[in-house]
Amino acid sequence: MEVTIERILPGGFGLAHAEGKTVMVALAAPGDRLRVRIDRVKGSVAFASIEEIIESSRDRVEPPCPYFGRCGGCDFQQLNYQAQLAAKIEIIKDCLHRIGKIANVPEFEIIPAPNEWHYRARAQWQYDAERKRLGYFEGGSRRVCDVAECAVLVPELQATLENLRAQIVVDAVPHDARYFRAIAGDDSVSIAPSVRSPIGGEGNVREVRRSIGSESYTLTADNFFQANTDLLPRLINGAIGDARGETAVELYCGVGLFTLPLARRFKHVIAVEDDAEAASFALMNLANSGLMNAEIEKSNVARWLEANLECAGDDGALDRVDFLLLDPPRTGAESRVIAGILQLRPKQISYVSCDPATLARDLKKLIAGGFSLDSIVACDMFPQTHHVETVAHLIASKYHERRDIN
Ligand SMILES: C[S@@+](CC[C@H](N)C(=O)[O-])C[C@H]1O[C@@H](n2cnc3c(N)ncnc32)[C@H](O)[C@@H]1O
Repeated sequence: MEVTIERILPGGFGLAHAEGKTVMVALAAPGDRLRVRIDRVKGSVAFASIEEIIESSRDRVEPPCPYFGRCGGCDFQQLNYQAQLAAKIEIIKDCLHRIGKIANVPEFEIIPAPNEWHYRARAQWQYDAERKRLGYFEGGSRRVCDVAECAVLVPELQATLENLRAQIVVDAVPHDARYFRAIAGDDSVSIAPSVRSPIGGEGNVREVRRSIGSESYTLTADNFFQANTDLLPRLINGAIGDARGETAVELYCGVGLFTLPLARRFKHVIAVEDDAEAASFALMNLANSGLMNAEIEKSNVARWLEANLECAGDDGALDRVDFLLLDPPRTGAESRVIAGILQLRPKQISYVSCDPATLARDLKKLIAGGFSLDSIVACDMFPQTHHVETVAHLIASKYHERRDIN
């Protein structure tokens, strides 16, 4: 089948229409004229891969990585960097319009990554012990693509990948490991599960320290942390800006990436995190920075909101929340969490999201519940992939007519 790519969709596919079908083409560029092979059909949507490029898009470049097309890690290497950024803005707008039903999306820009390559300071490598393969899953499969060199890793993690591969050759890694996680700190790398000291290396540590701007965080490879540390000061600024006040609530705080800067700007911060290890690192990171005005609540966010809203007013802490920051996992916030936020009625919300589709779903409910979308900042935390980090700022709208939330 021959198709012309109209634009890039959420999920990173190129959109085309042909023979009465909507065709989603992997690894395409807008304007490409392609001969494609249909891989599978779901209703009126056909998923296709490229057989031949008949006429190349002006945005198309030669992907430099030898694993591109097989490795499922990067799906944007065929686009020049400006086209990647433009596609991500379109992806966010598409979700906000189509899923969020937001008519007036404020104009916004995307902050480019300072490094288009070698930016990833945190990685998860899949391990196939039987075939001795280490790398990333192949696109749309659980087969491990054996990767010796990854173009988006920071040099410290590339060295760690090479060391791990050498350890696999001499049978020195745990046999039951299915994956390895690694995070590069300021001067060491944490790996989980841990392995013997890498051949010719300095040895790995369990905990690392990572400086971001003037803040310092201790964590391990098992904890969540943003992968593109070069861009983090811009993301933190985009999420918090010059917000200040009495009380800030932070939901899904991890090891405290936003908690420390919030504690410098607000008199009192309450941050919630379900993972026990992440919560204890958040507490330790605050203490190491001399910040005593923040509490870390080790709890599921929905349960914490429900329990605390029930007794709101008893000690007054949640009576007047100036600022609420949430940074949920890819699945977004549960309906119970949105209902809790609406009951809490903070003056301002900053929603940090790594998935524009779940962000749009949740914004729809927040807007229906009386908030208005004030501004958006996008950050290109993941160059060479369709993934993007978005921050949406909402303000409580006194004049908004309340509607039922579904
Ligand atoms: C996207 S990460 C954000 C972490 C932190 N804001 C950061 O940028 O480093 C989401 C965090 O939410 C936590 N989490 C996931 N589901 C949760 C839940 N239902 N309740 C509380 N925390 C949760 C995870 O353990 C993880 O630390």
